[in-house]
Amino acid sequence: MTDPTPSTPTQSRTFSPTPEFTAQANGEAPLYDQATDHEAFWAEQAHRYVTWDKDFDTTLDWSNAPFAKWFVGGQLNVARNCVDRHVEAGNGDRVAIHFEGEGGDTRTITYAELLREVCRTANALESLGVRKGDRVAIYMPMIPETVFTMLACARIGAPHSVVFGGFSADALRTRIADAQARVVVTTDGQFRRGKPAPLKPAVDEAVSGGDSPVEKVLVVKRTEGEVAWDDARDVWWHDVVDSASDQHEAQPHDSEHPLFILYTSGTTGKPKGIFHTSGGYLAQTAYTNAVVHDVHPGTDVYWCTADVGWVTGHSYIVYGPLANGATQVLYEGTPDTPHQGRWWEIVQKYGVSILYTAPTAIRTFMKWGEDIPAKYDLSSLRLLGSVGEPINPEAWLWYRKNIGGDRAPIVDTWWQTETGAIMISPLPGVTDLEPGSAQRPIPGISAEILDDEGKPLHDPEAVGYLVLTKPWPSMLRGIWGDQERYKETYWSRFGDKYYFAGDGAKYDANGNIWLLGRVDDVMNVSGHRLSTAEIESALVSHPSVAEAAVVGATDETTGQAVCAFVILRSDARDEGEATVQELRNHVAKEIGPIAKPRQIMVVAELPKTRSGKIMRRLLRDVAENREVGDVTTLADSTVMDLIKSGLSSGS
Ligand code: WTA
Repeated sequence: MTDPTPSTPTQSRTFSPTPEFTAQANGEAPLYDQATDHEAFWAEQAHRYVTWDKDFDTTLDWSNAPFAKWFVGGQLNVARNCVDRHVEAGNGDRVAIHFEGEGGDTRTITYAELLREVCRTANALESLGVRKGDRVAIYMPMIPETVFTMLACARIGAPHSVVFGGFSADALRTRIADAQARVVVTTDGQFRRGKPAPLKPAVDEAVSGGDSPVEKVLVVKRTEGEVAWDDARDVWWHDVVDSASDQHEAQPHDSEHPLFILYTSGTTGKPKGIFHTSGGYLAQTAYTNAVVHDVHPGTDVYWCTADVGWVTGHSYIVYGPLANGATQVLYEGTPDTPHQGRWWEIVQKYGVSILYTAPTAIRTFMKWGEDIPAKYDLSSLRLLGSVGEPINPEAWLWYRKNIGGDRAPIVDTWWQTETGAIMISPLPGVTDLEPGSAQRPIPGISAEILDDEGKPLHDPEAVGYLVLTKPWPSMLRGIWGDQERYKETYWSRFGDKYYFAGDGAKYDANGNIWLLGRVDDVMNVSGHRLSTAEIESALVSHPSVAEAAVVGATDETTGQAVCAFVILRSDARDEGEATVQELRNHVAKEIGPIAKPRQIMVVAELPKTRSGKIMRRLLRDVAENREVGDVTTLADSTVMDLIKSGLSSGS
């Protein structure tokens, strides 16, 4: 493997924790030692962070590897852990959620109120026929009802499948079909950049036709927009939830009972339904939220800016922080509505003390300028976090200086939909921080970097593949409906002892791990995983396109950007810019606006190996305006000249 980030600084500054921070931090140095007894360590965390209705008898059953079972024999109710127990402990008046709508509407929800709302929602879902084990699809914006619905599903034991509200009707349809969801919960629309945008029409389209497994669609009124209505299928939230009883008896579920499915892009066009179970997932999300985010319930105001449609929202808006009884901000909108200081205004307004966000957002704020955050009082912030892609040292330093007041530690947290919770990250009260590096596996996690042959690499700067060497509680339990693909994707590249993460990595001279991006055909655009194959098949589904190749090209703001090369069918007319626009919109319609290519280049040929494999590496060179690399394995070495001359002549 070659190093895609030759810019790793050789001399960088590190930042040590202050004694004041260390004195109050949840994550302490002895945890690393304690974790050498892997199972005993995790059993202890599971007892500390989770309330069990029935204690587990076996910490880890790995006898059927790579299918793990954690905390076997244990029973719990995840929703009761996230809500009821805080009320029972006398913290019912504590704020769980400060909701801030994009238009400035707000709602303050205490734990006592959250309990009533979750119970009502659970009763309403049951009245619509949802039973333990049934799947519920959730296609909603960032509003409190989304959190109520997820927790209500957890309470019933009905695994949810949250589909990001920016995905298309087609994407929703395939996810509903794969999980065989019986109910969809949605809204009439959502506010986006000051305007209402409809959401329900996509659901209508996704469940249309005779073959949909969906029996009921539950609709929250959010934007008051006109909606089409099917009396037999559609139900208003305010009709069934508001009138439902706010008492709901929750049953304990097995530790390994499925909690949710979340789809993520793989290297083929078909998204993978990553599924997670209850006990292990809850234990690790709560533990990491405590020791990495250093959340102190009752005093901190925590804000994770992710969308609940992604795993970060699942683990660090809903399950981890609520299990810990944290107070958090939930913001519906975009960072620049109605102005570019909106986030900082929110930090100031609620006294946010912990902010968890993504590098792409930080780079956007850098572009907007430091004058904007400087207008607000950000002195409440005491810890910053980053997730989703490598954070370049420059952005890290900007974040620390302009948002963290040169004071707040930054935790750069590496993990994945599949890992369920944070895996590699500094502990803010312990670690000397190294900008740009996620540093070390947290206590309880072990990783290695392997070369092509599977040999561990320890030399500084030697680039290899990141693997995880031991099972962990919040690990995925498989791919919904396709366990062969689970084994093949994650447990075969280096044999069945290593979980293959799909990321390149290296150590620096201080033993810190640097993550170097994906090594497979998955792109990372603004922290969102997109598969080249999925976008290629969307392009080829357009009647004008004969063939398509997609690459992720480096982009200053979004990390990577989608660049597509297409060959038009011989009977299609190339209308230049109009054709390109039409194809871009087609991808947005097929997958969602986040997948819209930044650039589409119409070409006469694509570079292929003799075995017919597209050489994306060469296309990436073109997309990034580089000298084209080695072409000797091409079936026809003149193809690249053809592509380049065609592009420079403006076709
Ligand atoms: C990337 C998001 C470097 C990585 C939680 C991983 C990161 C993929 C980091 C998972 C980080 C996430 N540093 N790279 N701190 N965090 N990644 O499933 O390539 O949406 O494999 O989970 O994002 O993306 P996913």
